[in-house]
Amino acid sequence: MQEKILVFGANGQIGTELVEQLRTIHGGSAIIACDIKDPDFAHRHDGPFEHGDVLQEASLQALFKKHKPTQVFHLAALLSAVGEQRPQVAWELNMNGLLHVLELAVEFKTAKVFWPSSIAVFGPGSPKHNTPQFCVMDPSTVYGISKLAGERWCEYYYLKHGLDVRSIRYPGLMGWKAEPGGGTTDYAVHIFREAIKRREYECFLRADTQIPMMYMPDAIRASLELMEAPAEKLTTRSAYNIAGLSFSPAMLAREIRKHIPQLTVTYLKNDHRQAIANSWPNSIDDSVAREDWNWQARFNLEDICEDMLDNLRKIALR
Ligand SMILES: NC(=O)c1ccc[n+]([C@@H]2O[C@H](COP(=O)([O-])OP(=O)(O)OC[C@H]3O[C@@H](n4cnc5c(N)ncnc54)[C@H](O)[C@@H]3O)[C@@H](O)[C@H]2O)c1
Repeated sequence: MQEKILVFGANGQIGTELVEQLRTIHGGSAIIACDIKDPDFAHRHDGPFEHGDVLQEASLQALFKKHKPTQVFHLAALLSAVGEQRPQVAWELNMNGLLHVLELAVEFKTAKVFWPSSIAVFGPGSPKHNTPQFCVMDPSTVYGISKLAGERWCEYYYLKHGLDVRSIRYPGLMGWKAEPGGGTTDYAVHIFREAIKRREYECFLRADTQIPMMYMPDAIRASLELMEAPAEKLTTRSAYNIAGLSFSPAMLAREIRKHIPQLTVTYLKNDHRQAIANSWPNSIDDSVAREDWNWQARFNLEDICEDMLDNLRKIALR
């Protein structure tokens, strides 16, 4: 079957890489990138782009009508750190955007929907180490509350309407192709750019703050593998835990210093993002994803640092 795939929030950190990968698999014209902001110059001619605001239900409906998507990837959201600055806006976008997409996917009989959740669904009451798929979930950020509610809505649409919706709780993601969009783990991208440019970095998280993280190629592969998995194998229609690796700013700095020994890192004492990070797990148990669709991460910290520095250095030389 020829796929037609709509990607909402296509120009963000994840969308930029996901659209590229989807176009490699299905061909440029099969993937309709949608966002409220224009694509970067580099991606302007890679395939079709539509201005699409997930909060405008009528214009969203027009996009479903025009393209009749077989799959939808809904990525548009306000992330954890910016969400805490604008809680009402975050709630509005993260909830109503998702509900519009789920409703239209049912109306237009979209075969599959992907929507990412986050480790932000966990909170201070959740087990800190090897946080399991099912446990106490008491998120303390608007972002986390919206993701937990979103997970329940996804399962609800699966149970009530038979919508084939699939989701992953992404850890903090790092990649070199696009800037991060205002999350609590953005430091893990910024530090590379500053290490190359200035050999110094002021980190907004404390040196020992260990958070589950993942390299973008693993995260994209996880999303595509989950979307390709046989429906009958999937036991979770809220969102799957997936684990990559866990590290702190100090551990990341140590690894980068193997390539850039002059790097100095200072740590802010009172950044508002520290409280968010403190409420999240240190590490994730992803045994259910491994069991259901054979999930396995590939990149370790050494590989990530080498690949990030290699690619960012090439960009810096252009
Ligand atoms: N990046 C991470 O580390 C991470 C971790 C866990 C979960 N996630 C989730 O993955 C998804 C994508 O994250 P990201 O890092 O790419 O975010 P991002 O902030 O980089 O990108 C979001 C994109 O959505 C677009 N957008 C905003 N409002 C919109 C609207 N009303 N209509 C259409 N588009 C709109 C923005 O212009 C932007 O291009 C989000 O749901 C996020 O919660 C990301």
